[in-house]
Amino acid sequence: MTATLWPDHLFLVGCGNMAGQMLARWLDCGLDPARVAVLRPSGKPIAEGVRVMSAYPDALPAGTTVLLGMKPYQIADVAASLAPLCGEDTRIVSILAGTPLADLRARFPAARAVVRAMPNLPVGIGQGVTGLYTDAATAAQARDAIGSLIAPLGLVEWIADEGRFNEVTALSGCGPAFLFRFIDALARAGEALGLPADQAARMALATVEGAASMAARASDSPGTLADRVASPGGMTREGLNVLDADDRLLSLLTDTLAAARDRGEAMARGG
Ligand SMILES: NC(=O)c1ccc[n+]([C@@H]2O[C@H](COP(=O)([O-])OP(=O)(O)OC[C@H]3O[C@@H](n4cnc5c(N)ncnc54)[C@H](OP(=O)(O)O)[C@@H]3O)[C@@H](O)[C@H]2O)c1
Repeated sequence: MTATLWPDHLFLVGCGNMAGQMLARWLDCGLDPARVAVLRPSGKPIAEGVRVMSAYPDALPAGTTVLLGMKPYQIADVAASLAPLCGEDTRIVSILAGTPLADLRARFPAARAVVRAMPNLPVGIGQGVTGLYTDAATAAQARDAIGSLIAPLGLVEWIADEGRFNEVTALSGCGPAFLFRFIDALARAGEALGLPADQAARMALATVEGAASMAARASDSPGTLADRVASPGGMTREGLNVLDADDRLLSLLTDTLAAARDRGEAMARGG
């Protein structure tokens, strides 16, 4: 991994489950806490050396990178207080689900660099996935700096079409929950076949962890790896035949992602 270009000043507006995971990883990777200020209404401490405030400062230092990490419905209130503090060199990174770039640009008209980010929870251990999107008004240098800030969180994918953000959210944003469900189902299936529950749970989790690590290191795709470990007439092939029949697993996952995406679209319409 190339060295991270830490921002001189990072200002987090909201630092709950998700922004808190991102900040924890940045601090683990060497971000100086003296460069970080957090606004959260509770004023609860975050980490040693990180300044926490419950009201907005009078000004932001030049070139501050702002991470919007509160709930999406709070954007109007936040923008009313924050926008007057932003200059053209302020960089805005928003993790607000369902809040389009155009909306952010309208609320923070002075800031040139505005980036939407969709992280997922494993960012806290540097194994997350973050989809990023911006437009041509964000200069290449700012775009690179924000990409560099996100890089220690795991895989970074720039999304070409903002219209695909709900699909990105369905796959990688919601994905950890779907995988947790899969691990649990694998364990419970083992139990249903007669294995002790605690042993099945340990084996299911370690199997998924090992298989994912192996797939991440392999030059072949996961689909090819599955076929490679399944010899004709063997046990694995027989099991795969069940998952593959009528594209059962594929259909189930397509329906799962589509349902999550559709919910995102409904929420964006105010549903
Ligand atoms: N959770 C996920 O998996 C996930 C994934 C991708 C994106 N996101 C996005 O992440 C954002 C935060 O979600 P979350 O799950 O982290 O929520 P959360 O845990 O409830 O955190 C919300 C944070 O916002 C702060 N806050 C509340 N009111 C505020 C206000 N008026 N002004 C500024 N800050 C305020 C809270 O302060 P206190 O700490 O003082 O209570 C808290 O730190 C959402 O926009 C969501 O769309 C979440």
